[in-house]
Amino acid sequence: MVITGGRTLRGRVRAAGAKNAALPAIFASLLTSEPVVLLRVPRLRDVQTALELVQALGKEVYWQGEELELREGAPPPPVAPEAPVRRMRASFLVLGPLLARRGQARVPHPGGCAIGPRPVDLHLKGLAALGADIQARQGWVEARATGLVGRTVYLDFPSVGATEQLLLAGALARGETVILNPAREPEVVGLGRLLSAMGAEVTWGEDRVVIRGRKELAGTRWQVIPDRIEAGTYLLAGAITGGRVRVEGVVPRHLAALLVKFEQAGLEVQQGEDWVEVAACGRARGVHLETGPYPGFPTDLQPPMVSLLAVAEGESSVTERVFASRFGHVGELLRMGARMRLQGATLLINGVEELTPARVRAPDIRAGAALVLAALAARGTSKLEGTDHLARGYQGLPQKLQALGAEVELCRMDSC
Ligand code: UD1
Repeated sequence: MVITGGRTLRGRVRAAGAKNAALPAIFASLLTSEPVVLLRVPRLRDVQTALELVQALGKEVYWQGEELELREGAPPPPVAPEAPVRRMRASFLVLGPLLARRGQARVPHPGGCAIGPRPVDLHLKGLAALGADIQARQGWVEARATGLVGRTVYLDFPSVGATEQLLLAGALARGETVILNPAREPEVVGLGRLLSAMGAEVTWGEDRVVIRGRKELAGTRWQVIPDRIEAGTYLLAGAITGGRVRVEGVVPRHLAALLVKFEQAGLEVQQGEDWVEVAACGRARGVHLETGPYPGFPTDLQPPMVSLLAVAEGESSVTERVFASRFGHVGELLRMGARMRLQGATLLINGVEELTPARVRAPDIRAGAALVLAALAARGTSKLEGTDHLARGYQGLPQKLQALGAEVELCRMDSC
């Protein structure tokens, strides 16, 4: 991607459906033999990977614009294909549905990824508590259960994936599954709503979520929630270029932690029922923040926020509490003239007035977004490699940025 920075971004952009809500919803379709129709599904590479996986597990896939219908061609076999699971960690969520439907499942272990080791021990402990016998063999996880039974499971950390895994399995378990210390991210709550629409009963308490399983679940039509991470990224793109960007079709309270930081940074924030607008009159001021489980500051917005703070006035600090080694963007930002250093899980930033354009490489999805933002702010032409990561998570990124006034071009390696 070739980006000529220094332009002020202004205008409106519509948020896509959330990738992280669409993926578990696609896997939830494996819980029923009836059709599931999902609305506002983003056309992303990760969604394609999820569809490749459920197709291998017997689903037929029909697209109509942003509407996706999943119909059962054949009941799912108990073994998940290797390639899509190794390509995308979220694929591991098929374990619960396959186990619940078939009484056995064999799924590749998803391993680590660019943002550090990402174990699945909480998923496995939870499924074991529901009665599954689980073995790890040569890179595969094998699980068996003669009927899952609802139990109380305590999560040591409110893991998004583990909560989703247990909601999915619990939806077809006998009796009530109680998850203590669950993740409360909007995408997780969204999955709970989808499962309720399919016939399971999901209720949220102060410290728990309870799911009452059903013997069989029904099909449904369900709308994917807006992508708060994508929305936040465009707001940050406006802010870093000293512009004014409105993102429409969002749930403003899902962005509350980011908006508070914008206000602390001296930016002007306005919001309506389903839109948020952020304007920068001059440079942002440095702020201090920690990422954390929702409603904390989202770890997925930490990398692009770091780009903003790299050019903010004064000092900032950013402590990463969810993925300790998620700082793949820092080395590249240093090459663009940022002044920052890591101290354990905390990044200490001294804001500079300007970044300099450079040739940089995106190591993962959100670090890629951070580098796009940095390049938008750096006067001159930057070249970003590794844009396939961006295609995993941002629908029509170059087009949306162009509509806001950015000079962005996607090109083939040999023509750059
Ligand atoms: C999901 C999101 C990801 C986001 C993250 C945190 C999807 C597809 N991905 O990832 O974009 O950054 O939530 O909001 O929705 N952990 C364990 N054991 C486990 C599971 C997790 O130790 O069994 C740890 C992880 O290593 C990490 C922390 O818990 O340090 C959070 O992970 P988790 O909330 O599970 O994130 P994901 O579901 O992988």
